[in-house]
Amino acid sequence: MTTFPRTLNLLAGAPLGIFGAGHLGRTVACCLVDASFPRTQLLVCHRGSQRTQEQLAQAGLAGNIVDNRELVRRSGIIFYIVRPQDAGAITACPPPAGTLIVSFMASIPLARLRELIPGCSFMRVLTSAPDTLAQGRGIAAIFPGGKAVVDEILAAIRVRPYVLRREEDLHAFTVLGPCLPIALTCWEVRAGAADDQSLLRLGTRHGLPGYRHLLQWAREVQPRGQSPDEPGRLPHQVRYEGRGNGGYS
Ligand SMILES: NC(=O)c1ccc[n+]([C@@H]2O[C@H](COP(=O)([O-])OP(=O)(O)OC[C@H]3O[C@@H](n4cnc5c(N)ncnc54)[C@H](OP(=O)(O)O)[C@@H]3O)[C@@H](O)[C@H]2O)c1
Repeated sequence: MTTFPRTLNLLAGAPLGIFGAGHLGRTVACCLVDASFPRTQLLVCHRGSQRTQEQLAQAGLAGNIVDNRELVRRSGIIFYIVRPQDAGAITACPPPAGTLIVSFMASIPLARLRELIPGCSFMRVLTSAPDTLAQGRGIAAIFPGGKAVVDEILAAIRVRPYVLRREEDLHAFTVLGPCLPIALTCWEVRAGAADDQSLLRLGTRHGLPGYRHLLQWAREVQPRGQSPDEPGRLPHQVRYEGRGNGGYS
């Protein structure tokens, strides 16, 4: 019994392609494999950095790397996970019309994606940081909702979905969701505990569904572990994550 019946049915033997195998793309690929997505139906591509090549090999994904053109040509679904400044990367090898492209990029609206890649079907998924996904404690805003395969994939990799009513609410979600754990820790270190009631009012005012759960999530995953020999400084863990895993900036 597969964890991905709808997805595999839609793919009909074609691969799922992850275009951009950096911090987030690589983590999503690993989460898929951990959730028993068939390794043979997973493709990844990147710009060609040696470091990414090595990290993919360490993750056991060396055999899944192909060039951009091959990934785009073969994949039935493409997860587009490059940085916003590289949003045009895929235009050098346009996907076949009708391909479902799931953009994980912050700040590139659907209208821009449609201009860049005409004829495809799009949705946006804005996740929390890669470390939360790797721990099986990720969250993601989805716009628009209604794609059963994407719901299935997120559920399989244990990412809690928040379907937004309006695309512009992705901005509020980013600040009051994925960015909140580090902000909570900074407030605690520098200025005392944050006021949950104010945050709840803010989340509700910005139309975020289930904001109480989001706040609870942020409390659960927020970086902890202040160093006793550096009072008033950010915890080691926070500074490490700021440099190391692309989770925070
Ligand atoms: N990291 C987070 O916490 C986070 C959270 C939510 C959303 N996001 C979104 O996820 C996206 C990726 O973030 P990231 O942190 O994973 O960035 P990243 O580590 O820099 O990864 C970007 C990847 O894109 C690849 N790439 C760039 N240009 C390419 C091209 N022309 N062809 C093929 N691949 C190309 C890079 O290849 P090389 O490695 O070879 O250079 C790299 O693997 C961003 O849009 C960001 O908004 C990130």
